[in-house]
Amino acid sequence: MNQFSPLDAMAFKGNLTLPKVPESNMALSVLGVFLGLLLEVSTHGPSSVPRSSWKQDDVDLLEFWEPDVFNYTTLLLNEDRGVLYVGAREAVYELNISNISIKNNQLLWKVPDSDMSMCILKGKSKETDCRNYIRVLQVLDEEHLYVCGTHAFQPLCDYLSLQDFRLLEKAEDGRGKCSYDPAQSFTTVMVDGELYSGTAYNFLGSEPIISRSSPSQSLLRTEYSTSWLNEPSFVFADVIREGQDSPDGDDDKIYYFFTEVSVEYEFFGKLLIPRIARVCKGDLGGQRTLQKKWTSFLKAKLVCSMPELNFVFNVVHDVFILKAPHWRDTVIYGVFTSQWGNVGLSAVCAYNMSSVHEVFSRGKYMQKVTVEQSHTKWVRFNGAPPSPRPGACINNMNRQQNMSSSLHLPDKTLQFVRDHPLLEDPVLPIGNGPRLITKDVNYTQIAVQRVQALDNSIHHVIFTATDKGFLHKSVVLENEVHTVEEVQLLKNSEPIKTLLLSTDQAQFLYAGSDSGVVQSPTAFCQKYGSCVDCVLARDPYCAWYTQSKACVNIFQSKADPRKMIQNLKGDAGICPPVSPLAVKDYPLLLVKPGASADLPCRVQSNRAQVLWKLNNQLLSDSSSRLLLMSESGLLLYSVTMEDAGRYECWSVESAAGQNFSRVVSGYILRLDLPESKSAQLTREPTTTSEGNSVNNNNSPVTPGLTSAPTDAPSLTTPPTSAIKPKSNIPPEVSNSPARTETIDPSAKYIQHDNSAALLALFLLFFLLFLAALLYNCYMQYLPAPCLRLRSALLGSSKKPQAEYAACEAGLMEKTDPANQIAAHPLRALRDTGYETEPEAELGNGAVRSNSFDESPCKDRPFDIDCASQPIEFADADADAP
Ligand SMILES: *[C@@H]1O[C@H](CO)[C@@H](O)[C@H](O)[C@H]1NC(C)=O
Ligand SMILES: *[C@@H]1O[C@H](CO)[C@@H](O)[C@H](O)[C@H]1NC(C)=O
Ligand SMILES: *[C@@H]1O[C@H](CO)[C@@H](O)[C@H](O)[C@H]1NC(C)=O
Ligand SMILES: *[C@@H]1O[C@H](CO)[C@@H](O)[C@H](O)[C@H]1NC(C)=O
Ligand SMILES: *[C@@H]1O[C@H](CO)[C@@H](O)[C@H](O)[C@H]1NC(C)=O
Repeated sequence: MNQFSPLDAMAFKGNLTLPKVPESNMALSVLGVFLGLLLEVSTHGPSSVPRSSWKQDDVDLLEFWEPDVFNYTTLLLNEDRGVLYVGAREAVYELNISNISIKNNQLLWKVPDSDMSMCILKGKSKETDCRNYIRVLQVLDEEHLYVCGTHAFQPLCDYLSLQDFRLLEKAEDGRGKCSYDPAQSFTTVMVDGELYSGTAYNFLGSEPIISRSSPSQSLLRTEYSTSWLNEPSFVFADVIREGQDSPDGDDDKIYYFFTEVSVEYEFFGKLLIPRIARVCKGDLGGQRTLQKKWTSFLKAKLVCSMPELNFVFNVVHDVFILKAPHWRDTVIYGVFTSQWGNVGLSAVCAYNMSSVHEVFSRGKYMQKVTVEQSHTKWVRFNGAPPSPRPGACINNMNRQQNMSSSLHLPDKTLQFVRDHPLLEDPVLPIGNGPRLITKDVNYTQIAVQRVQALDNSIHHVIFTATDKGFLHKSVVLENEVHTVEEVQLLKNSEPIKTLLLSTDQAQFLYAGSDSGVVQSPTAFCQKYGSCVDCVLARDPYCAWYTQSKACVNIFQSKADPRKMIQNLKGDAGICPPVSPLAVKDYPLLLVKPGASADLPCRVQSNRAQVLWKLNNQLLSDSSSRLLLMSESGLLLYSVTMEDAGRYECWSVESAAGQNFSRVVSGYILRLDLPESKSAQLTREPTTTSEGNSVNNNNSPVTPGLTSAPTDAPSLTTPPTSAIKPKSNIPPEVSNSPARTETIDPSAKYIQHDNSAALLALFLLFFLLFLAALLYNCYMQYLPAPCLRLRSALLGSSKKPQAEYAACEAGLMEKTDPANQIAAHPLRALRDTGYETEPEAELGNGAVRSNSFDESPCKDRPFDIDCASQPIEFADADADAP
């Protein structure tokens, strides 16, 4: 066997003795990452803001939970039977698939007292650990489910008869099938009556194992070695039927997804790596070498990164395999975050099954070498691996050579795969980057569905669940990802731990959490009240039905598709024109001078820009000190004569390269003056309003979908029906009539006349302020810029205070991250305290970069540039085509 060549050692040595420059470069680039991220993701990254947000009360969700039962985290759909099985703590339920609040059956499975006391003796908690958490629910056959529970840290499995919903009491040892610890990561899949698990094999949870248990054979498992599995967090496992119609007689494969501690990168602390591993279904273990162990276990790095920013998402939380009739068309979706959670970014990456297959069947192996006595390092194996290819499934060629099963594989192949389970070639995402990046969320679960839109185009719809009980729905369009909506599924802010999608008609999603199960429709089309809204939502499930003037779910509606309007680009221009809100229907607000007025405006879209117009003049935040724009509307403080008029709230949303504007709500604001004054005072505003509205008719407003209201409002003769009570005035106003009354409207006019006096007063105050400023500056109460000014004025003879200089020197010298953090307030002080938000985040980045700098990491932990380039086949390799 070709071992490690001296040439490799040289190359490797060169790597080890990297000059100082690249390291500082790395620190810079890490800093750049954080800087870049803030800019990039907020401007033109694939990041996506959900267009609509639905609270739990806004939508119709169905829930299931039972008193005193928790941890509803194991879900299994059986669409043939029309049921959802739920495994919770000490209970299994059978629920109606179309309404999960209907419970068909239940089974309670508690831990006997004897086992409970054993568990307590071993130091586990009676209330939490020593219970039976149902973690495996798999279909065995038509009549039976296979069920396993942690069973007070003594995993146990049994058969559940679906006829009477009872256990057969054939208690089987759950070791290697189910975890001991309910809090430990775990995954399982049943394939052709055999249970594949990723779990821990011992009480302490320190021995990770990927195993297969079948009724007919003994347990097949991974070698207990850090090169096979190194503190893995199992996420998902499923079978890919690669054997179907395989011309070379290949086998079906079971793929595992997990995050583990890397062995190939040196890093201070533990560097996590997302992995994809696979085993062959037909594996029987080796004859002498690898007895009862996988002969086909191989794993590779799963890359989810932004190469252009050098930013890596290195923790995989969940995986969904979007299967296709042929396995080559299958797409794997994963949700990722960074190990450093404070970055606050989640990403979705997609992988092509063909490229996964390519990596496993042709990828280079990695090799562990010992350098400098005890130190080991993983490098690429450049020699020729033995034949048959180590880790490959048995195929027709092997069978011709009399190797009909893994038992017949030569020892050389088996020894090689035992020592080289890790492939060097990574699995790269489709498009070399994330499909979707979302800020300020932690995604925990993912489910993906293929949806055929009305124009017959097929789109992948990605459902992602968060650790705060929310669901995001995003649709992959030609060259962008649009997040349609976010839905609050759980009342409490808790993680969604399981997410299932019904395949039958794709109607519902099921989400499991510690407190219950929630059933949600996959779309909320009826929430969109207008054609424009329905189209701008860009939801492939929804279309505007012109006949009933409603936004309908195209998969549930029997309506004629030709009468439906859908455009996934969001071109709302195809909607039939609607008559805009008539000005005469605007509610009238009567406000006392000096009082405040609240003008609500609910814009459904988070992507729309909200503009307010007063008599068709755009109001801007800065133009008046009396305005406060908020998400829900406009607040006017201390209303004066100039504030009266016609208010309109416009929503401007851009889609398909156009801006779609429309009036969302409108108000007529009038001053409520005491009778005696009103006769004389109302005249003025009325005429201005009329004058304005005449102007408006001449100059068309924002070009857009809805033309400006054309019927000019005649304020002198408002229809009495339009006059509404001042329901919109905030309570604070009505509650404090005293305050309102103290402001005499006439006083305002007096102030107007005395503006000269006011100006004088203002000048006086300004001079006083200036004097105070100068005094404080002289006394050194104010920070740096002032100090500089002071020293300039007083001459350089006078140095800044010694204390201050010491601080500056300290700042320069500090290299320790902890001190760096401590140094921050000082820096903030120097920056006169006006530290803006991005700068603060940059500060965090700087700290991080520093810690990177400090690390003994000799290699860049992720060399993306390298990884994303085709692997150099430097040496001749028998395996390479
Ligand atoms: C089970 O649910 C309870 C209540 O929500 C929670 O505190 C606990 O952490 C959960 N346990 C596991 C193992 O998920
Ligand atoms: C996956 O890769 C294969 C071969 O490279 C290609 O034909 C196929 O279109 C790809 N599928 C996707 C979804 O990108
Ligand atoms: C395979 O086995 C058969 C019978 O055991 C033998 O005749 C044949 O020569 C073998 N072929 C090879 C390639 O070893
Ligand atoms: C995401 O999770 C990490 C670690 O669990 C936490 O520190 C962070 O605050 C979370 N971020 C958000 C936006 O919830
Ligand atoms: C849409 O409006 C924004 C500002 O609101 C403007 O920058 C952009 O150019 C407009 N786009 C089109 C196509 O009119």
